[in-house]
Amino acid sequence: MNIAATVRAQAQDLLHFIDAGPSPWHVVHECAERLAAAGFKRLDEGERWRLPPGSRCYLTRGGSLVAFITGGNADQGLTLIGAHTDSPGLRVKPRAADESGGLWRVGVEVYGSPILATFADRDLTLAGRVNVRSGQGFASHLVRFAQPLLRLPNLAIHMNREVNEVGLKFNRQSELPLLLGLADDGASGERRFRQLIAEQCGVAPEDLLTWDLAAADTQAGSFWGPNSEFIASSRLDNLASCHAALCALLAVSADAPARAALIALFDHEEVGSESAVGAGGSLAADVIARLAASAGQDAEDQRRRLARSFFISADMAHAWHPNFPAAYEPGHHVLVNGGPVIKSNANQRYSTTADSAARFMGFCAAASVPCQHYAHRADLGCGSTIGPLVAARLGVASVDVGSPLWAMHSIRESAGVLDHAAMIAALTAALRRASAAAM
Ligand code: CO
Repeated sequence: MNIAATVRAQAQDLLHFIDAGPSPWHVVHECAERLAAAGFKRLDEGERWRLPPGSRCYLTRGGSLVAFITGGNADQGLTLIGAHTDSPGLRVKPRAADESGGLWRVGVEVYGSPILATFADRDLTLAGRVNVRSGQGFASHLVRFAQPLLRLPNLAIHMNREVNEVGLKFNRQSELPLLLGLADDGASGERRFRQLIAEQCGVAPEDLLTWDLAAADTQAGSFWGPNSEFIASSRLDNLASCHAALCALLAVSADAPARAALIALFDHEEVGSESAVGAGGSLAADVIARLAASAGQDAEDQRRRLARSFFISADMAHAWHPNFPAAYEPGHHVLVNGGPVIKSNANQRYSTTADSAARFMGFCAAASVPCQHYAHRADLGCGSTIGPLVAARLGVASVDVGSPLWAMHSIRESAGVLDHAAMIAALTAALRRASAAAM
């Protein structure tokens, strides 16, 4: 297997991107930096927008971000690519620390559906945002500890004899607190913990107000396999799709496309998307309505535009794992490094239709990349993603796609180097060619 230098560089850049994004707020920050460096202008949702044709802008709402190029012709539809910035894992509680038998621990809540056992024995740290007192109000800091800070040690096999037969299970309340240190100086765990966070923000502990902190793995992503053709990392679901969407938008940003191109990267997908910033909320619709308003379009024009629009929901797909054949639909094995996957589900857990799948196949063909089809076993519950939600709220044609992934929701997932480049190429082709394709 010969991996082209450009393909390797895209995968390497993905590892940097994931490393820069240990929390949704870090992901948004990294995207904003890259967009600003490429000349995209930051918009404030609280200000009036003036967007001449060809404007390149982005905005953030919490852990979500939308970036767009307005396009030269407001009568054409929009092409929107969606992905999500959050990953399942452990989140620190508001009153986090306690002392137990001489050790202090950090209380966590399970966010979404991680494979909890994979969080044991990892070199974890904390990352997220912290609010500190500032004048009469507060200021928000992005915070990340570089060093391994806390840990969830396994119980020794001598005390958990059945672990290899029944699997590793944790009680979510009592067995997940993360060990942080020795409670050796008489100070309360809560005080010590607050001191730690305050120091990292460079403020006094009494000025520390609130936080959104996630446990994150400190191990950087890596390549594996005889030709380094595979990627292992935290958060490939779904930062690989965020990165691919961002690369695609940046790739077409110099084109001055006639048709508007948007990417929407949403927080809260892993917990159902129903929030002020999630895909189930108003964010995408709000931005599209404001694009219409700034182009002088009325409600009728906007409906016409949406009728010509297309949404690509990019999230990871379950790669074929030969050790567990019974988990898969026999006719729909998707291979790592076999190319982008179109995900279909008759019950609309995925938004794909025969038409939208055909359209995405056209984008893959235009990009000269292969394309695979996935369906979940009919006797297993199928996961869902942002595709059906956004499609329902906007009323636009929509397809669910993704790159093949092993161990979805493990703290260390695996994917393919070739697939990432292929997904970037397919999404770039989608932003370039959508206006030429028949609806
Ligand atoms: Co996902």
